[in-house]
Amino acid sequence: MENFVFEYPTKVYFGKGAVKSYLSSELKKYGETVMLAYGGGSVKRNGVHSEVLSVLGECGKKVVEFSGIMPNPTYAKVQEGAALAREYNVGLILAVGGGSVIDCCKIVALQANFSGDVWEEEIEKHSFPAAAPIPLGAIVTVSGTGSEMNGGGVITNEDKKIKTGLFAAAPRFSILDPEYTMSVPFPQVMSGTFDTLSHAMETYFGYPNEDNVSDDIGEAVMRSVIRNMRVLLKDRNNYTARSNLMWDSAMAENGVLKIGKKTDFEVHMMEHQLGAYTDCNHGMGLAVLHPVYYRHIVREGLPKFVRFAKNVWEIPAEGKTDVQLALAGIDALAAFIKECGLPSHLTELKMKDSPEKLLTDRALEEIAYSTTILPGSYKRMTGSEIYEIFKECM
Ligand code: NZQ
Ligand code: ZN
Repeated sequence: MENFVFEYPTKVYFGKGAVKSYLSSELKKYGETVMLAYGGGSVKRNGVHSEVLSVLGECGKKVVEFSGIMPNPTYAKVQEGAALAREYNVGLILAVGGGSVIDCCKIVALQANFSGDVWEEEIEKHSFPAAAPIPLGAIVTVSGTGSEMNGGGVITNEDKKIKTGLFAAAPRFSILDPEYTMSVPFPQVMSGTFDTLSHAMETYFGYPNEDNVSDDIGEAVMRSVIRNMRVLLKDRNNYTARSNLMWDSAMAENGVLKIGKKTDFEVHMMEHQLGAYTDCNHGMGLAVLHPVYYRHIVREGLPKFVRFAKNVWEIPAEGKTDVQLALAGIDALAAFIKECGLPSHLTELKMKDSPEKLLTDRALEEIAYSTTILPGSYKRMTGSEIYEIFKECM
């Protein structure tokens, strides 16, 4: 294990009926005005909005609604939320949704109490805003990102054409009721769960390669995700599978798997930059990119890819060289992606600035060369290799 410091800031309430059982006890800790934040309206259609609103009413809270948070939330939306939070002097932001709503609210919570500009401070000045964020609580309605148990928020700055993570505020509490995910359209369920698998893989494929407990837990999480995605393929509303996947989501991105590890996350950087220019869905973009990227780095990361093939996909080693075994593991991942109905090509992505236009090769090159290159990959990427990977995905 590498040296590490670990601390946990979020209290989690998990299970059926958790909002009714626990939300009021949390609400008592915060000021009288609550900002109820949500996305494009799914929470109104599935009854979650009225369930949450009734608990807020019973607790005598004044409610300010902040709605319309879009998938891949924009920095402009963050500023809208921050202005609202300031105007009504809210004591708690309650984010009800998936990664997009929770991420947006994390940055709203910090921006509302910071006199400067959070993006400028973090991304341009490489500093952390000197302000205490408004307390944040999350109620998860679609799982996969793990945003409910970490302090990062992924935001698209449309002016600068960058989608990236900002650090702000981990939720003080998160409520995870697997039944809330039952109304999520099935392709989005698969997309979210693949995001979870991706987080576990991005963490696993990183040094150290020698024995460490984080990789053992990572393998257990990956096997659980694969097994439970297969259950959902046969039985979409299986509660046991939904609940396992919901906790896998939190486990894969709450920092536990990263303890004592260097992580990769280059596939995330590629997908995020695609999302800055196009309407790329996060989990689906990751599904296309992973096998192609892994074939580019397999030789540099050979021992871990061999372990992945054996321990995650249970591929027998007999009669295979290490390279053959490692490639068989990547093939198994690619086959699983197809089995789940997830895409294998980046086709039909539409440009954000002109939604009637499909992604062009010229834009793809610009996206490749503006992708952040992280130091944790087994093989150091370059803009030209990322461009090659993108082209192989088309
Ligand atoms: O907007 P509404 O109407 O609510 O619809 C949403 C949205 O269209 C819908 N949905 C959510 N709950 C539902 C539901 N539909 C029916 N029933 C329900 N119960 O699902 C759609 C997708 O929601 P979204 O929040 O965008 O999905 P996800 O949770 O996958 O979040 C994706 C965002 O999170 C970022 C991604 O980059 C992306 O911007 N990530 C955040 C991370 C983090 N903070 O740790 C890590 C991830 O790697 C990721 O980058
Ligand atoms: Zn992700």
